[in-house]
Amino acid sequence: MMKLIFYLLACSVCFSHAQTPSEEFPHMAALAPGNKVVLYWKFNETHITFELHGQTTGWVGVGLSPNGGMINADIYVGWVKDGSATITDRKGPPDGQGFPPLDEEQNVKLLDGSESDGWTRLKFRREIPACEPSDIPITGSTTYGRGKVAANKLTGVN
Ligand SMILES: *[C@@H]1O[C@H](CO)[C@@H](O)[C@H](O)[C@H]1NC(C)=O
Repeated sequence: MMKLIFYLLACSVCFSHAQTPSEEFPHMAALAPGNKVVLYWKFNETHITFELHGQTTGWVGVGLSPNGGMINADIYVGWVKDGSATITDRKGPPDGQGFPPLDEEQNVKLLDGSESDGWTRLKFRREIPACEPSDIPITGSTTYGRGKVAANKLTGVN
C-alpha cells in the first residue's frame, strides 16, 4: 500500500511538466524517460484518436508494435514547421534499423498540431481495423496498455 501511494505521488509530480491535452482522453502513456513524450488516446468501434505530445521542436513519433520491436511496427511521425503540422504514417524498417520509411498508404488524418514552450503537440486519427497489411489491427486499450507501445525506440527528442 505504501508503495502504491509513493508511485501515485511520483507520477503526479512528473506529469505536472507535461502539456494538458486538448480534450479528455481515457488512456494515456508516458513513453520516454522524463515524460518527454506522452501519448493520449481514445477509440470507438471505427476510429482511434491520438494526441501525442513531445518535448521537442523537432519531430516526435510513436510506434505501435505487436512485439515491442521496430520490425512490423506501425509508426506515426509528425512535426510542426512554420506553424504548419504534418503527420506521416510509417512502418518499421525491414531490418529493424534506421528511420522508418513512409507507408505506401497514408492511413492517418491530422486533426490538429501546434508547437509552444518547446513542446510539439499532434492530434490525429485513424480508422479501425487496419486496411493495409503492414498496419497492426487495433482492437482495444490492452494493445497499448501492456508495454506494447514501442515509442521509446522512436522518440526524436533532441
Ligand atoms: C467514432 O469516432 C469517429 C471519429 O471521431 C466518428 O466520426 C464516428 O461517428 C464515431 N462512431 C460512433 C459509432 O460513435
